[in-house]
Amino acid sequence: MNKDIVCIGAGYIGGPTMAVIALKNPGRRVVVVDINEARIAAWNSPDFDLPVYEPGLLDVVRQVRGRNLFFSTDIETAVRECDIVFVGVNTPTKSFGRGAGMASDLQYWEATAREIKRFARGDKIVVEKSTLPVRTAAAMEAILNDHSEHKFTVLSNPEFLAEGTAIRDLLEPDRVLVGGPDDADGRAAVEECVSIYASWVPRERILTTGVWSAELTKLAANAFLAQRVSSINAIAGLCEATGADVDEVARVIGADRRIGPKFLKAGPGFGGSCFKKDVLNLVYLCESFGLHTAAEYWHGVVKMNEHQQERIVSRLVKQMFNTVANKKIALFGFAFKADTGDTRETPSATVAKLLAEEHARIAVTDPKAIPNARRDLEGVPGVEFCDGEYEAAAGADAIVLMTDWRHYKDLDWNRIFESMRKPALVFDTRNCLDQARLREIGFRVLAIGK
Ligand code: NAD
Ligand code: UGA
Repeated sequence: MNKDIVCIGAGYIGGPTMAVIALKNPGRRVVVVDINEARIAAWNSPDFDLPVYEPGLLDVVRQVRGRNLFFSTDIETAVRECDIVFVGVNTPTKSFGRGAGMASDLQYWEATAREIKRFARGDKIVVEKSTLPVRTAAAMEAILNDHSEHKFTVLSNPEFLAEGTAIRDLLEPDRVLVGGPDDADGRAAVEECVSIYASWVPRERILTTGVWSAELTKLAANAFLAQRVSSINAIAGLCEATGADVDEVARVIGADRRIGPKFLKAGPGFGGSCFKKDVLNLVYLCESFGLHTAAEYWHGVVKMNEHQQERIVSRLVKQMFNTVANKKIALFGFAFKADTGDTRETPSATVAKLLAEEHARIAVTDPKAIPNARRDLEGVPGVEFCDGEYEAAAGADAIVLMTDWRHYKDLDWNRIFESMRKPALVFDTRNCLDQARLREIGFRVLAIGK
């Protein structure tokens, strides 16, 4: 019999993941619940004005919403009636007390454990979808199974999708990971969870491990990816100092099959809700187990990232005759990467704030992220938000391209040049423009790692 699913947390992870699970498991009822009423209303909006922008998501939600995918704020009913509970709530970095600025804040997580326990009317499989410190499942199990008449089996099924490509990543994942306890109940629960994914993912790509390995693998995978970005950005600085070209260096490094070409793009540093939080979580875990050198090693990845944004602003100010006070600087792109409206930990916010400290006037434009940008930059002096690139560039002294939105390279750069104050400067922090052509037009051009 197909077991029904509830997912607690209707955010970037819960919404898209459950939409694809529902699409590929038409025989299962999937309910996504959240305490955030506005978010649930948006998922249910008649005109499909979804709270998350992801290419392809709308198409999937149109097919399954109301068929076997439902969004609700009624957590009690949903938990009572389901067999499998995925938990995809947020696990931000703790901002207070012990471990502040490093450890995960598990208050939302613990609240859900207590809710599941309170509302359950039978045995349940509880699946960790959020990214969590290793051994969280032990705490979850302790809460759930303490004096309980029902049996709760806790699994770890971390999610590896990236924003902007979430639907593609979910439909064709490199791997799905399910970690569970090595006993009869644990093995049966793992098989149940595997069967959800096996309806579209080839079995050989569904990897099973112990719970602790699954929890730690997620942190380690993000740390390795973040480390590659920081490594290439560290080389970018050296390229700028020596006349080497970071794109050429990356191309050749990546041609070594042991290294591979992906995640070697120098830029303004990694943003997004997870890399910094997860690496800091790993640092905290290492520290707690007395592994100070390992902690310091991983901390370097985050420090390098912060340094990259400071370096961008210092180079820009230097090129603009050591002052940007009252100069207009257009920021092209505020999302932390292309194809998303998400601005969590976006390098653009850091750059905007550093420029505001220099008393620059900042014109922000982004095709998807302006609502979030308004919130993130509230109270920052000298910031205006523009409807498009041409408006942002008009009268500007410099453009800083921060996000690799594809259409930026197809803009009418002649028109942009004409509308700017001279000398007009473009800082292509993503190396995604035709820089030679910009020079021909008359721009002064700064690039990353060149
Ligand atoms: P999010 O903030 O977009 O969504 C989390 C949702 O959980 C929010 O809507 C919040 O209202 C809800 N919530 C919190 N407490 C709740 C409760 N007690 N009951 C019901 N709902 C509750 O976060 P996200 O980006 O979806 O990330 C969630 C988790 O997934 C994090 O641990 C993150 O590290 C992990 N993750 C995220 C991504 C990503 O691309 N965003 C990728 C892989 C893993
Ligand atoms: C990342 C991981 O790629 C996912 O596997 C993981 O599931 C997710 O974190 C998570 O746990 O939240 P995401 O942050 O959405 O996904 O996006 P990425 O494509 O990884 O990009 C992260 C940041 O690194 C972006 O700011 C991007 O511009 C930057 N980046 C990426 C570079 O600067 N250079 C690169 O070569 C690659």
